[in-house]
Amino acid sequence: MSTAESTFSKGLEGVVAAQTEMSFINGTEGVLEYVGIAIGDLASKSSFEETVFLLWNKRLPTAAELEAFNAELREDYTMTDALKERIKACPVDAEPMHVIRTMISSMAMDDPSPNENSVEVARHKALNILATAPAIVAAFDRHRRGLDIVDPDPSLSFAANFLYMLNGEKPTDAMVRAFDICMITHADHGLNNSTFAARVVISTLSDMYSAITAAVGSLRGPLHGGANEGVMKMLNQISDVDSVESHVMNMIANKERIMGFGHRVYKAKDPRAAELMTLAKQLAEDTGNMDLYNKSHAIELVMEREYAAKGIYPNVDFYSATTYHCIGLKLDLFTPMFVLARIAGWAGHVIEQLGDNRLYRPTTDYVGQHAVPYVAIKDR
Ligand code: ACO
Repeated sequence: MSTAESTFSKGLEGVVAAQTEMSFINGTEGVLEYVGIAIGDLASKSSFEETVFLLWNKRLPTAAELEAFNAELREDYTMTDALKERIKACPVDAEPMHVIRTMISSMAMDDPSPNENSVEVARHKALNILATAPAIVAAFDRHRRGLDIVDPDPSLSFAANFLYMLNGEKPTDAMVRAFDICMITHADHGLNNSTFAARVVISTLSDMYSAITAAVGSLRGPLHGGANEGVMKMLNQISDVDSVESHVMNMIANKERIMGFGHRVYKAKDPRAAELMTLAKQLAEDTGNMDLYNKSHAIELVMEREYAAKGIYPNVDFYSATTYHCIGLKLDLFTPMFVLARIAGWAGHVIEQLGDNRLYRPTTDYVGQHAVPYVAIKDR
């Protein structure tokens, strides 16, 4: 018990700090639903755009509503000239996560009313950030490769347009669908660390840009969204499937954390990992990357043997690494892909928070000294 007579929970485990209608998680049974719909159904039947509509409106759209939503989103694909110039001013060796965080923050300067938080305006800002973020990542990647920025194509879906702006050529339908599934599975996930960061910031009645910027900063940590890059680094260190056993056992012996495993809420296999595993296998077959998939699967088997009893299973980041590699993305673009999708969730939570706000202000349990005499600097 703290001095404030409240319970101290390290890492806020088990603390309910918000109500949401967006996603439901049952960590023991490995269930994830968006607005009541199973993630597996959305991954196999929906599109990212429809999923965003669902999360933001708490219901599926009609055909006309989806068309209108797509049109609105596509109108916002284009970056301002000022934003393009700021991207071109970024050092070519900057990390993409630092670039996207900085550029989203900078978008407030192009907005004539950045601090307006009415639901209608907040929704428009959310849509604008969601639509522009892929252009930021693609433009920065091309800038660092010394290539011209490719303007968005409003005839393309969110997923297709991103891959087109990144590579300068129209992607195949299979790649678009795979990327779309990644976006759907990463769109929202309860009060994860970055979503909490966004809610904390907006609870001061700050602004959408500040809230999303804070969330991007949180996501890049290796214990959160940054783990997908950690997974790929581990896979790159393992020469072949036969070396998996010794590599993983060495890591365990050295008390290293295996990236892509474990979760605060799931004590069963993350349902998103199950979806992405199927996707990763298919893509690996199609792109000649079965060695990578086989290494991933072998890691999962060793981890299951060693850690399932502790409730440590693959999380969303584990198979997303193989998936992104097969889509042709560079390692340091993996976590930015998480940003592109999770903006949907962050913005939805910001709007929920604004709708029923109370300032987040937990307390600390002071464990330091009292009544310490002040000693003059000359006497210390
Ligand atoms: N590898 C090895 N051991 C692990 C792992 C792991 N990946 N995850 C948890 N553990 C162990 C811890 O060492 C600890 O063991 P101990 O009780 O013997 O000390 C125990 O499990 C509990 O760990 P905590 O860190 O207290 O659990 P928490 O709920 O805070 O952990 C976390 C969640 C941070 C995700 C953790 O599982 C982890 O570090 N995983 C690796 C990083 C990762 O994949 N992050 C992505 C999560 S999904 C997402 O954010 C999108």
